[in-house]
Amino acid sequence: MDEEKKRVVFSGLRPTGACHLGHLAGALRNWIKLQDQYRCFYSIVTWHAFSSEYQNHPVIRDYIFEVAADWLSIGLDPDKCTIFVQSEVKEHAELHLLLSMIIPLPWLQRVPTFKEMQKELKDKDVNTYGFLGYPVLQTADIILYKGEIVPVGEDQAYHLELAREITRRFNRLFGNIFPEPQILLTEVPKLAGTDGRKMSKSFGNSIYLKDSPEVIRAKIQPMKTDVRRKRRTDPGEPEDCPAFTLHKAFVDEEQREKIAQGCRTAGIGCLECKNIVIEKLIQILTPFWEKRKTFADNPDMVLDILERGNTEAREVAQKTMKEVRIALGF
Ligand code: TRP
Ligand code: SF4
Repeated sequence: MDEEKKRVVFSGLRPTGACHLGHLAGALRNWIKLQDQYRCFYSIVTWHAFSSEYQNHPVIRDYIFEVAADWLSIGLDPDKCTIFVQSEVKEHAELHLLLSMIIPLPWLQRVPTFKEMQKELKDKDVNTYGFLGYPVLQTADIILYKGEIVPVGEDQAYHLELAREITRRFNRLFGNIFPEPQILLTEVPKLAGTDGRKMSKSFGNSIYLKDSPEVIRAKIQPMKTDVRRKRRTDPGEPEDCPAFTLHKAFVDEEQREKIAQGCRTAGIGCLECKNIVIEKLIQILTPFWEKRKTFADNPDMVLDILERGNTEAREVAQKTMKEVRIALGF
């Protein structure tokens, strides 16, 4: 297909930590597939990270590198997609500013994540103007590239609904410039972290892509299992087992069914069951670790790829902003 006619995919990740298995199952695997079919922009969204990490901002710089190296090592290919750093393309800020002028305040005040984050991030002061505008910046990210498809998890569904609303309002006021972005929900079972809660950097329960085989073993072996399996002879229910969420994401269906059967009949022990997924992860991650080491030893390779991506992104962003400025008449 003609490169210009391909539909545009946009997604982003905040550089607030290295990539973990939740990112792999929930986003990256899908992004890798999409890069063969669509015109994909994948952004390391510095300013979104800054909105919650401004009091701890020096870490952002390191995580930009970490995230980029993780993405490249897991299979995002700079010849197939554009990998770039949001804060290197200033047009995001300009469009964010313009959008902020047309968004009724209540649209932002009712965003559930705004209130949730206030509670969740107790150690951080996110009661700020910028944080309230988080979904505005996210909308600017997407429509700046005329993004049509946004592969994200369920937790971003509200932001995407809002992005559509904002886009409609902009188009109504200034002419039809932007396509309405559509969410492409990534269907993955919620991955449990090592403590049984959702795997998330902020809970400190994550298994990182860069973890060594030893670390992966040490994290998964003590994971909580179905409470019914107090003894080896007690049958269990995999659907109630945090560890089994890893099987759901990473073990193929046939083998997984056998394991589930083994669990329900007490035919398999929990340690044996966990070892299966541990070995599977090591198999999946071995090529990643090799590439990741090359990038760690040659950081310029990563920085050059980012520079190239920034340039590609800038070109598209500048073109869009020209159109926007004409539509606004200044
Ligand atoms: N808000 C997203 C998250 O926390 C990150 C993000 C920023 C994003 N801009 C985006 C995702 C644009 C998709 C499209 O995961
Ligand atoms: Fe979980 Fe596996 Fe143990 Fe069943 S056998 S409770 S699925 S760890």
